[in-house]
Amino acid sequence: MSADSKPLVECRGLVKTFRLPALAAGPGSREFRAVDGLSLAVYPGETLALVGESGCGKSTTGRLLLRLEKPSAGTVTFEGRDLAALSAARLRTQRSRMQMIFQDPYGSLNPRLTVGAALAEPLRIHWRLSGKSLRERIAGLLENVGLRPEHARRYPHEFSGGQRQRIAIARAVSVNPGFVVADEPVSSLDISIQGQILKLLIELKKSLGMAMLFISHDLAVVRQISDRVAVMYRGRLVELAPAGELFSRPLHPYTRLLLSCVLAPRPGRKGAPPDIRSPEATGYRGFGCSFAGRCPLEIAACTRETPELRELYPDHYAACLVAGGKPLPDISR
Ligand SMILES: Nc1ncnc2c1ncn2[C@@H]1O[C@H](COP(=O)(O)OP(=O)(O)OP(=O)(O)O)[C@@H](O)[C@H]1O
Ligand code: SF4
Ligand SMILES: [Mg+2]
Repeated sequence: MSADSKPLVECRGLVKTFRLPALAAGPGSREFRAVDGLSLAVYPGETLALVGESGCGKSTTGRLLLRLEKPSAGTVTFEGRDLAALSAARLRTQRSRMQMIFQDPYGSLNPRLTVGAALAEPLRIHWRLSGKSLRERIAGLLENVGLRPEHARRYPHEFSGGQRQRIAIARAVSVNPGFVVADEPVSSLDISIQGQILKLLIELKKSLGMAMLFISHDLAVVRQISDRVAVMYRGRLVELAPAGELFSRPLHPYTRLLLSCVLAPRPGRKGAPPDIRSPEATGYRGFGCSFAGRCPLEIAACTRETPELRELYPDHYAACLVAGGKPLPDISR
């Protein structure tokens, strides 16, 4: 992003450790890191996409950034303030500036509340609206997301999936949040509806000036909506770049595989998707590159050195010992 803007949301060294269920734990560690030392900044007004295959830690990262979960280590700041240092009351106020849109709009809407009541809740709590101003705000929100004011009297089950997602979006943006985490917001929708919802999100983002972390495993969708893209693999960032740059010049072998759609599960070691929770199964020992064993460009150093994110081109970072330059000398022989 531009050098003069300050991050809106920033995490440093973010770690989230989960305990393994007894069966998955195997003989070694009974814990695994769903998020493993992640540092990332989201700038005001931008859409940063977070991509990677299932289980790599995208949703956990989103929840940590909104402090819906506590990190095991690391910090999250919003406008420079450490969220962990806020009192419960301040955190509640802060929450109105940080909202989430979920994959399943039905699950995120209370089936017993009319749409009007669902939209009223955050407006009453955070903006203390009531009466006519509340009704007008609700009507305006419904129109902003392509619905009609009279829809406020209906219940979620009376709407289609796409309409329900519009309602969930209206609720998330109702109190003008600076930051929204949209976690696979179109994945459960028909392709024909996906485009409409993406268009709506793009329009709202522009008109409200909010920043968005857009979580998705679908690169075609990400391409349409993002300003920058962060690629995640096994709890770590492996590449971060402006969207055009990432799609035209992907540097990390994992990103390149993702883009060429050849990550379908195959038998054998290389190419088989690892179970992030099972280091024993993948041979990953907590050091070296976590993509080693699956990487077509692997060199001997990859199992010994943990690659850090390096800026290989302006604003384009990759965590790979080989990408963007000559391979490191092989010192194993
Ligand atoms: N509360 C939890 N307890 C234990 N393990 C968890 C918990 N939440 C997530 N995990 C595990 O952490 C890892 C990362 O999960 P996460 O939901 O963040 O992945 P994701 O990238 O969002 O995947 P998907 O694309 O399938 O949504 C997974 O292995 C998941 O099983
Ligand atoms: S560090 Fe090595 S194993 Fe990891 S992505 Fe780069 S080349 Fe592949
Ligand atoms: Mg997820």
